[in-house]
Amino acid sequence: MDRPIGIIDSGFGGLTVAQEIMRQLPKETICYIGDTLRCPYGPRPVDEVRKFTWQMINRLLEENVKMIVIACNTATAVVLEEARSLLSIPVVGVIQPGAISAIQSSNNQHIAVIGTTGTITSNAYATALVAISEQVTVESLACPFFVPLVEQGIIDGEEAERVVEESLKPLKNTDFDTLILGCTHYPLLKPVIESFLPASVTIISSGEETAREVSSLLFHHSINRKSSVEPEHQFFTTGVAESFKHFASKWLAIDTKNVASISLGSSLVFPTMNRQ
Ligand code: DGL
Repeated sequence: MDRPIGIIDSGFGGLTVAQEIMRQLPKETICYIGDTLRCPYGPRPVDEVRKFTWQMINRLLEENVKMIVIACNTATAVVLEEARSLLSIPVVGVIQPGAISAIQSSNNQHIAVIGTTGTITSNAYATALVAISEQVTVESLACPFFVPLVEQGIIDGEEAERVVEESLKPLKNTDFDTLILGCTHYPLLKPVIESFLPASVTIISSGEETAREVSSLLFHHSINRKSSVEPEHQFFTTGVAESFKHFASKWLAIDTKNVASISLGSSLVFPTMNRQ
């Protein structure tokens, strides 16, 4: 099927998931929306996250996407179930895949998760982890300063190190062996995060697992793209197109030929039934 896979995030973070989908599924076409203008979502009230996320979903439906990937943990925690129940196309979130991968990698079933205030407050990871394994012990920590850093392109150097070291302090002296990066922006800070953790800790970014789930759903529903013509990805940002292009190519080596700036202000804010 030649229709694109739709991917949404509050900004640049979901590009870490898009990058992994492009790597695992090179034939597929991506249509990405980053709500850069209204980022971060993490500290926002649930109602606002829900409204903004539906605006992006409705915009993707106008692009005739065949599947939606909510590449934002904060939005996944709020909208995933509702979107799955209302849309007739498959909807994938990033929390469950990350949780499964963490349980598989942990030897002592002591897992830490870091995320935005919204994701951590929702308890979505702890719930998903305990649903998979009752034996698991979960440490949850909000790191509200990470997303603003990443959106400014500060992903290494002194300032990034200072913020990461300070934010991770509450996890000191806990013996978790696996850390979930429960926000799609965080993989961009992974080298810095890693430098403040014992070498024995495994770091899980949900991008890889999410891409695997996308792949199995595409084949399960027989909606994978068969054409051998090179896919033409489309990226939309509510911010400045040039900044988006610069970020995607500089930090993620994603070739963003087609980037357009859009406004979501007038998009439908309510959940809509998917018309296929
Ligand atoms: N990257 C998103 C997440 O995974 C959102 C970060 C934010 O906007 O606060 O939660």
